[in-house]
Amino acid sequence: MARRVVLAYSGGLDTSVAVRWLIEHHGVEVVAVAVDVGQEPDAGPEHWERLRSRALAAGAVEAVVVDAKDELAEEFCVPAVQANARYEGIYPLVSALSRPLIVRHLVAEARRHRADAVAHGCTGKGNDQVRFEVGTRCLAPELEVLAPARSWGMSRADSVAYAAKWEIPIEATVERIYSIDENLFGRAIECGAIEDPWAAVPEDAYTLTQVRESEPVTVVVGFESGVPTSLDGTAMPVRSVIERLNVLAGSRGFGRLDMVENRRVGIKSREAYECPGALALLAAHVDLEGLTLERDLAHEKHRLEHRWAELVYDGLWFSPLKEALDAFIERSQQHVTGEVRLRFDAPGRCTVEGRRSPVALYDRGLATYDRDDTFRHHDAEGFVRLFGLGVTTWAARQRREEP
Ligand code: ARG
Repeated sequence: MARRVVLAYSGGLDTSVAVRWLIEHHGVEVVAVAVDVGQEPDAGPEHWERLRSRALAAGAVEAVVVDAKDELAEEFCVPAVQANARYEGIYPLVSALSRPLIVRHLVAEARRHRADAVAHGCTGKGNDQVRFEVGTRCLAPELEVLAPARSWGMSRADSVAYAAKWEIPIEATVERIYSIDENLFGRAIECGAIEDPWAAVPEDAYTLTQVRESEPVTVVVGFESGVPTSLDGTAMPVRSVIERLNVLAGSRGFGRLDMVENRRVGIKSREAYECPGALALLAAHVDLEGLTLERDLAHEKHRLEHRWAELVYDGLWFSPLKEALDAFIERSQQHVTGEVRLRFDAPGRCTVEGRRSPVALYDRGLATYDRDDTFRHHDAEGFVRLFGLGVTTWAARQRREEP
């Protein structure tokens, strides 16, 4: 039986109730760990102080806030951009990217506080439980994993009443419109009116992507070996690139996604996302690869990207196939260096307007139809004849066999 538990604490109703529930039903000490992955883009230090006091008020023996925004950007968002990662071709893995990072911090805090278990507030219906548990068991098989929200059987109203009974100062009301998960890379919105796949996603579901600027704007994104390193020629850390693009693209209403997605547990779920910075970065990166990757490498990489996204979505961040694919992807990025100019020219729209690279494989001499053409035209005839030799031989036989 566990004696001390490190709980992944969000500050919301469920994890606040979970603090007390773990104490009451498991007889454990609870260390609440909140990992700042950029879920509160506009919050100051008071927000995190309030969150800590709430955990302590709920009964935690210790409450810790870890700033992991740079780690999320550098170690999780960058590989996702390099992999052009979109689950089912659409969703840029926002929540799936933060979970292994949160797991890493939970495990570190569990060791620091000599805890023998970790806990999370996920229900049994989602992907996040899979990501937390599989991740934890890979990094720290000695730790037990507790999932109180999977078994407590409380409705939202029950949880509100439970919090009131234990005088836990929550901000939630019985009615919650949406279930939100947010980080630097975007925002996932579930529940409420969104559960009807035919209904339009209500405008009030969105916070990052409201049209606040109507003037078209361009921005130049710089990459070095597949890593975003600058905006409009100014060098900056990846985290700043993402944060700035979130504001720039978001204020033009760009970055919304609406899909019915296949969860790992077999449930189809209607999801709305807003990922202005992520989608802008992905658009720029994939375009720069068009300019700099050799054809076979580009095509093979494209095939493997889907697998990478699927593994990460499925909670297999720490896995041998993901590691091997990482090595492939990292190598592929060697020459993905250059700049892409994005243009936000209408609400909700982002287009690539231009791209350049000191290591481009684009050769104007080869491509041009002008007189300064360097292409060896006479090579083409033999190439085409040999390229088609197999099928033209086949076609000739077909003709002979025709009655
Ligand atoms: N469906 C997305 C995913 O599985 C988003 C999950 C959001 N999590 C949440 N607790 N609301 O990655």
